[in-house]
Amino acid sequence: MNLFDKIQETAAFIRSHVTARPAVGIILGSGLGGLTDIISKKVVLHYSQIPHFPVSTVKGHSGELVFGTIGDTEVVLMSGRFHYYEGYSMDAVTFPVRAMKAIGVETLILSNAAGGMNRDFGIGDLMLITDHINLFPEHPLRGHNDDRLGTRFPDMSQPYDLTLISAAKEIARKLNIEVKTGVYVGLQGPTFETPAEYRWLHTIGGDAVGMSTVPENIVARHGDMRVFAMSVITDIGISDTPVVITHEEVLEAANAAAPKMAAIVAELVQQIG
Ligand code: HPA
Repeated sequence: MNLFDKIQETAAFIRSHVTARPAVGIILGSGLGGLTDIISKKVVLHYSQIPHFPVSTVKGHSGELVFGTIGDTEVVLMSGRFHYYEGYSMDAVTFPVRAMKAIGVETLILSNAAGGMNRDFGIGDLMLITDHINLFPEHPLRGHNDDRLGTRFPDMSQPYDLTLISAAKEIARKLNIEVKTGVYVGLQGPTFETPAEYRWLHTIGGDAVGMSTVPENIVARHGDMRVFAMSVITDIGISDTPVVITHEEVLEAANAAAPKMAAIVAELVQQIG
């Protein structure tokens, strides 16, 4: 079955099981699952129930599609995402974005845990992503292009919606939450970077680095969705002495910053609605 038909089947299944018709989709990163708590009137579909959906394997990712509301705005939230390093194809990694688009999602909000490379950043900082550098070894749009899903050569001049970035900055200011902005470098992992790699990624223009978000952004832009994305800086790679980074520390720092991120996302989603 081709990708387009799979997406239609998935969308038909979701529509027949859920009455909500959200225009906002949210994908949560490592350690940020607590954001699910800001959603009311939840209806949950487990990934394993949904046709063509991959199933999540990573610690800290639960693997369910949550439908509900934030204020009066309907949302669909992916709790647990698929990473390329887990061995999924790019089609699988980005399939949920295609499915969201097919059920009517127009704005996608992405979050992740990321390593900081900007010397002004500290652990626990939030960074609004203004742009990205794609260093994944495979492009999610490589291969046959189905024009029903998007154009062959998508424009990427505004990968992250400037209006949403401005709105989030204003929300953060009102809530008294400090936010940074910067460029996210996406690469495959699963190793964290070597000191030389962090220095290099900073030299080429990166402020934060992580193993997600870029494929989903690309597929969302292919489908002409607006994207807003935010990183929690969970470790600082740039240092004069070696810094050991563990997944546990990443999760812990992400968990600690999750309420700040949730507050901003909650407000932003209501403004979009
Ligand atoms: N590098 C890559 N991915 C990450 C990092 C990092 O330092 N921190 C959290 N995710």
